[in-house]
Order: sequence, then C-alpha cells, then structure tokens
Amino acid sequence: MKMEAKQVKMFEDKLDFIHVESVIGSGYEEQVAKLAIEDGVAYRAARKNMQIHSAIILKINDEFSGFFTFQVNHEAKEFCLLQSAMDLNKKDKEVYSQMVQKIIDQNTFGYPMIMTVSTKHDLENPKVFQALGFITYLDLSGYAYMVYGTMEQIRFKRLAHATMTNTWTSTKADWLKMKKEWNEKIEAAGEKYDIANPKFASRDGCWQGGSGMSNVVLSKKTIEENGDIKHEKGKSFNGNASVLDPVACEVILRFFMPTAGTSVYNPFGGGVQMGFVTGSYGLEYLSSEIRENQCDANNTICQDFYNTKWLQSDSSKFQPKKKYDLCFSCPPYYKVEEYLDYDGKAPEGELNSIPTYEEFRDTLFEGYKKGIAALNDNCFFVIMTGDSRDKNGAYYGCEAEHELFFKEQGLHIYNKIVYLECEFTRLAQAKITLNYRKFPKREQKILVFYKGDMSKIKELYPPLGRL
Ligand SMILES: C[S@@+](CC[C@H](N)C(=O)[O-])C[C@H]1O[C@@H](n2cnc3c(N)ncnc32)[C@H](O)[C@@H]1O
Repeated sequence: MKMEAKQVKMFEDKLDFIHVESVIGSGYEEQVAKLAIEDGVAYRAARKNMQIHSAIILKINDEFSGFFTFQVNHEAKEFCLLQSAMDLNKKDKEVYSQMVQKIIDQNTFGYPMIMTVSTKHDLENPKVFQALGFITYLDLSGYAYMVYGTMEQIRFKRLAHATMTNTWTSTKADWLKMKKEWNEKIEAAGEKYDIANPKFASRDGCWQGGSGMSNVVLSKKTIEENGDIKHEKGKSFNGNASVLDPVACEVILRFFMPTAGTSVYNPFGGGVQMGFVTGSYGLEYLSSEIRENQCDANNTICQDFYNTKWLQSDSSKFQPKKKYDLCFSCPPYYKVEEYLDYDGKAPEGELNSIPTYEEFRDTLFEGYKKGIAALNDNCFFVIMTGDSRDKNGAYYGCEAEHELFFKEQGLHIYNKIVYLECEFTRLAQAKITLNYRKFPKREQKILVFYKGDMSKIKELYPPLGRL
C-alpha cells in the first residue's frame, strides 16, 4: 500500500486563545488591523466601528498569529461570528478550528450562532464550520449562511432573505423549498381528517376563465394507442383556484405580528393557508368566511391547533367581539372567481356575486372597517389583492382604491409589496393579449397599512438580528 507523505511536526506549538471583551482597549488593536488588511477578506476588522466587538486572539508560541471577532446581541438573542484571519504563513485548519471552538465555548447563553462563509475561502469555509457542528441554512451566490443551532432559530432570517425588498419572487429556490414543506403539512392534515385536496378544498371550479388569476394551469399529456402524444390544453386539477401562498402567509405573520401579539383576524377568509400557518405557530386565528363548505373544510383540517377558527358569517356585517394584533385579508378579486356553497350557489352577500363593482367595493370596505375597529393600536392591517378588468378590458382600479380607503380611515400606507408568480402561463397569454396592448398580469399586491404611531414599530416588533 502506498503511504502518503505527511510532514511530521518536530515540536508541538504552544497555542494560546485569549478572550477579549472588545478589540479596542485590549492592546491588540493594531495587530488585528494590520492582519485584517493583509488578509483582505477580513479587512472590515480593521475598522474602529468593528473593533468595538469581542474577539479571540490567537497566539502561537507567544506571537500574535490570528483573531476571530464576534458579537453577542442580547436584543436579538443571537451570537454573530464576524471576521477571522490567521497569519498568512501560519495558516492551519486544525488551529483555526480550535479558535472557532473557543468562540463556541463563549456562547453560554444558548443563542443561535450565525456565520456567513465563502465557499472559496481556505479557512473560513463551509466544510470547516460544518465539521464543528454548524449547518447551512442558505446558499447564496457562493456564500453559505450557517448556524450553530437549529433551523427554527434562524427561520425569521430565512424568510427575510427570501424577500429582502418589496418584490417577493415566489419562484426562488428557497421560497419553493419552504412552500413545499408547508404544502406537505397541509396535505398530511387533509389526509388525517379525510379532506380531499385540502389546499383547494371547496374551491374546485371556482375560476372563471382566461382573464382570471390562475395559479396553476396544467396541460395534460396522454399517450394514445398508436403512440402519439395527445395534448389536452388548459386542464387543471383545481380549476385554477387562486390559493394563498403559505410562505407569503408566514412572512406576513412573522414580520407584522408585534412581539407581544397573539392573534390574527381575517375577514373574507377563503382557503386554509393563513389559518394553518398561524395555528402552527400556536397563535389564535379567527376568520369570517361566508361559505359554510369552506369553513367546514378548514375547521376540520385545523382542528389540532389551538383556537384556529373560521366562522360562517358575512364579513361586511360581522363585528369581532375582541381586538386582534394583526388583520390580514386576501379578499375576492372582483369577478375573477365564483364562490359557491354546498348547494352550488353563491350565498347571499357573497362579494363576487354582487352585480356592480361599486357595490362590491363598498361591501368589501365595510368588512375592512369592522376589521380596523377590531385591530389594536400600533398594529398592521395587511391586504393581498389584485386588480381585475371590466367587460371592456379596463382595470377597475381596486388596488388604488384600497390605498385611498385605508388612508381615509386614518391608517398609514406602510408597504406596497409586489408578489410575483411564475410567468409561464402568462407568456402563453401574452401572445394574444399583447396585440391589444395588454400585458398579462403576473403580480399581486400586498398592501400593508399601519394603525397607530409609526415611531413605535422598532420597539414593538421583534428584531431580525444580523442578515
Ligand atoms: C377565496 S378568498 C380569495 C382568494 C384567497 N387568496 C384564498 O386563498 O382563499 C375570498 C373569500 O371571500 C369569501 N367571501 C366572499 N364574500 C364574502 C363576505 N361577504 N363575507 C365573508 N366572506 C366572503 C369567499 O367565499 C372566498 O372564500
């Protein structure tokens, strides 16, 4: 057997790992700054505003040979590993790993420890950290976002990374991964309680046609006896019902629920998603929904959660008896879908069966008024909505009317978010509609309103920590 040559160290090095509360004032300021600049990647550790943080100083045979800076954030309850470097002539993975281990030992608080590393770095890389027990929670353009802790502890950060700006692209890899996990949970609950197709329950066939807000269009392919492939266009297993995206629900819940908040009210409730997500977090959820079949299906699916309820009622008339910490609604988009009950008819007062847009809008806004009255001060009211076109092809202007309405009610317009879906089905539509100069609609809006004193938001809502 061929032996690999390995250099044997003649003498063991003397290693010291010195913990300093802050680089500034430790006596190592200049050495840290010099090495940080030589290293290049760790250059930020040369800055005064970074040297306020703690560090492990590495000494090899009594000579300064490296550092690793870190910050304990008690407000966000997290432990952030910052910059690290080793003397360019003394780089050694084993010694570097011991330095990381010394940092892990400093975390006596049980906080998740977070670190962003480059896959290209010789020491500060995923393999080294993985060997010490870190796990990667996000892979992004050559960087691994890692945690020494659990995936639940960094869930909020993961959601933040999935969004980041006011354009939420629901087709990104991590978004789809999280969505799949939620859908599997919803499917499992449906199977447990015998609700077929739980993501779309009671919504089969509700979509009204080509101008609708289809989420899914599946074309069915079958192989004929002679071997030809038959293509049935536009078939879909759920009638193209616009079901809510559970990841969007989770982001909304995590971002817009106050730290001390416990409850959500949803007028014009619809599908199970927002309730399922809220219930999974152990929070209270009440939804007013006019169709009994939808309420029954959702209540059955969510029966294991604490206080997650759909109440069969007309939201424009129903006034919740208590106050809530977050209002959310994804109401009907005018005439895009039909909402039918057990008897195959739209219940009296159902919004999409109202003959004119103006009456539809006024009834919808009545429901919002009751929601606003039931919303605690310094809380958010989030609406996911989309405009639709009238018979002549002009937009009703429903989104704009939402903004004006909430402003008139005294709320602040706080975020206007674009929720983007897969463009696949829209591309086919475009081939026809662009001739009429109509661009197929690929986005929905998430309009976020705030009731109260905006200067309180930072104090009342949970910190995100380092992203
Ligand atoms: C289905 S949602 C819109 C789509 C939503 N994204 C979802 O996933 O469910 C709208 C819901 O509002 C309900 N609705 C319509 N008029 C209502 C009213 N006056 N009061 C309460 N709910 C109503 C419909 O039955 C429907 O389930």
